[in-house]
Amino acid sequence: NMEKKPVLYSGIQPTGILTIGNFIGAINNWLKIQEDYFSIYSIVDLHAITVRQDPIEYRSRALSFYAQYIACGLDPEKSILYFQSHVHQHAELTWILNCYSYLGELRRMTQYKEKSKKNADNLNVGLLDYPVLMAADILLYQASVVPVGIDQKQHLELARDIADRFNNIYGQTFTIPEVYLGKQGNKIFSLQDPFAKMSKSDPNPDAAVSIIESPDSIARKFKRAVTDSESVVEYREDKPGISNLLVILSSMTDKSIDTLVNEYHDAGYKKFKEDVAEAVIEKLRPVREDYERLMKDKAYLLNIAGQGASRAAALAERTLAKVKKKIGLIERPSLN
Ligand code: TRP
Repeated sequence: NMEKKPVLYSGIQPTGILTIGNFIGAINNWLKIQEDYFSIYSIVDLHAITVRQDPIEYRSRALSFYAQYIACGLDPEKSILYFQSHVHQHAELTWILNCYSYLGELRRMTQYKEKSKKNADNLNVGLLDYPVLMAADILLYQASVVPVGIDQKQHLELARDIADRFNNIYGQTFTIPEVYLGKQGNKIFSLQDPFAKMSKSDPNPDAAVSIIESPDSIARKFKRAVTDSESVVEYREDKPGISNLLVILSSMTDKSIDTLVNEYHDAGYKKFKEDVAEAVIEKLRPVREDYERLMKDKAYLLNIAGQGASRAAALAERTLAKVKKKIGLIERPSLN
């Protein structure tokens, strides 16, 4: 029955930290639509190895991300939560789709151009092939809805092109996925530079707040948040720091920006920042507590991850088998 709902697919790289920006801009929206879609979320641990990772740190971070997703309220019963590397069909479909992707279109990807500049000393083929793996992720599950940030829109369009190209040659095989951009107002900026997006890998530790951060540390970071030299709380383009804090407070309390501006207009920045910090602390308290509980029970977590992978693999295999048949690969004989 749940498979009758449209399939929603998203992936997140297990690098850096999950921030309140990810929570407000992405995870919180996913929770709201969890009932409307058959949702599949993967920790894309094969994508993140396009840059070098320390194996020990990488393994623990990936598991920590998995626990954070669940702690945020993504329900492993209602949705599928799994590690990309546990489902070999991703790598397999990527190879096949490579043969339907053009070097020219991959080289034109903005992210590839940027990453190849940054990684001149490790310009590996994975960096170029990254969007084909992403296309395989999405197409394996016949996903129709893919919530991503604006920076991933180009990759999604490529996935659509590849799917369309394949369908045109072999007949209907893949669902053409639609991009699902979150609400514009939901973008959260750095606490230290309100013109820059809050980044999960910002080198300045005061710039971003993790969703599992201690209350003391959250309070300290909001206290230091960059504002401006006025003292009125208003939502204005020339007050990016204060506006960012208003957006954060609004999403944490579900109160409108207007209501909050009325409430805090002349309260002073000190009081305003303290209340923003308090709202964030309270909203995230159950997340952090759940997270800590989950991390104490690794066996349980791995068991859930294994179940997620099995469910994902069953769906992925259906598509992969169809693809192999269409392109003329001999079906593997089953021996008895
Ligand atoms: N490339 C995406 C990012 O960096 C992550 C990702 C991998 C993804 N596979 C995906 C997102 C499939 C959506 C669907 O954000």
